[in-house]
Amino acid sequence: MNKSIKVLAPASVANLVCGFDVLGMSLADPADEMIMSLTDTPGIKIIHEDEYNLPEEAEKNVAGAALLAMMKELDPQTGFFLRVKKTIKPGSGLGSSAASAAGAVAGANALLGNKFSQDDLVRFAMSGEKLASGVKHADNIAPCLMGGITLIRSIMPLDIVKVSFPELYVTVVHPQIEVKTSDAREILRKQVLLKDAIKQWGNIAGLVAGFMQKDYSLIGRSLEDVIIEPVRSILIPGFNEVKEKCKNAGALGGGISGSGPSVFMLSVEEKTANRVSEVMREVYSCLGIDFKIYVTKIDEKGVKIEVFQHQ
Ligand code: HSE
Repeated sequence: MNKSIKVLAPASVANLVCGFDVLGMSLADPADEMIMSLTDTPGIKIIHEDEYNLPEEAEKNVAGAALLAMMKELDPQTGFFLRVKKTIKPGSGLGSSAASAAGAVAGANALLGNKFSQDDLVRFAMSGEKLASGVKHADNIAPCLMGGITLIRSIMPLDIVKVSFPELYVTVVHPQIEVKTSDAREILRKQVLLKDAIKQWGNIAGLVAGFMQKDYSLIGRSLEDVIIEPVRSILIPGFNEVKEKCKNAGALGGGISGSGPSVFMLSVEEKTANRVSEVMREVYSCLGIDFKIYVTKIDEKGVKIEVFQHQ
């Protein structure tokens, strides 16, 4: 008897403005879909049923790289088959590679009867991120796997903390240009000034406290990045204008989603989130850049798995 499962892996916003590599949030929309099963033949077979022309060889595929890391700790006879339909565009800044990697390892774990812990899954999925961006980081993977908002206090050893949060709406604009995470990391300065570091860690602590205490004003004041955003925003046309106008329209604040080019804003009320989406639409229409907009909420569950077929 062969079990097939359906995996839904959510998009995520990494960094959460000031928390470069250490904070991340899972989104209710969009999400990637995978159908997975175990096979009699050892190895990994991947088929993409989407428009993104991603490589299907396991070693070159983000989901494949994550599964290969898992397979080092499995019986060598194990085999997986994956049909992947991505909705989260690669290079969007919405955690596309994390959704592939985290979705694949969470699906494989379900097929194996939940042999591995959540930390193991983060560890395997980070090999997928390494393939995509050259560096292991978990600020998309952890929220994608666990849902909600996560603080990655350390990746070695892994120390991940779930952060509670109040009701919030998220508006995201994805200008249709590609920013590779590896390029967006390459341009960052390797050293920071102490005065900037002090401001940044004040903001990170303030943001986490603001989420946990449900203090919207503190969240808004803490959504400030004096280290990464000034460098990376150069890669995103219209960034300063869209940010300023969205805040004037009532958003608490926001910034670059992951390594960009998507830009996200948090709002307390749905009607504000919709107004923010109108502002984003106006700015990018005027700039003549195609875009996609999502008005969504923070996803609480992370990767969802459904057993959908027995043969
Ligand atoms: N923290 C990562 C970065 C997320 O900003 O480079 C991108 O995937």
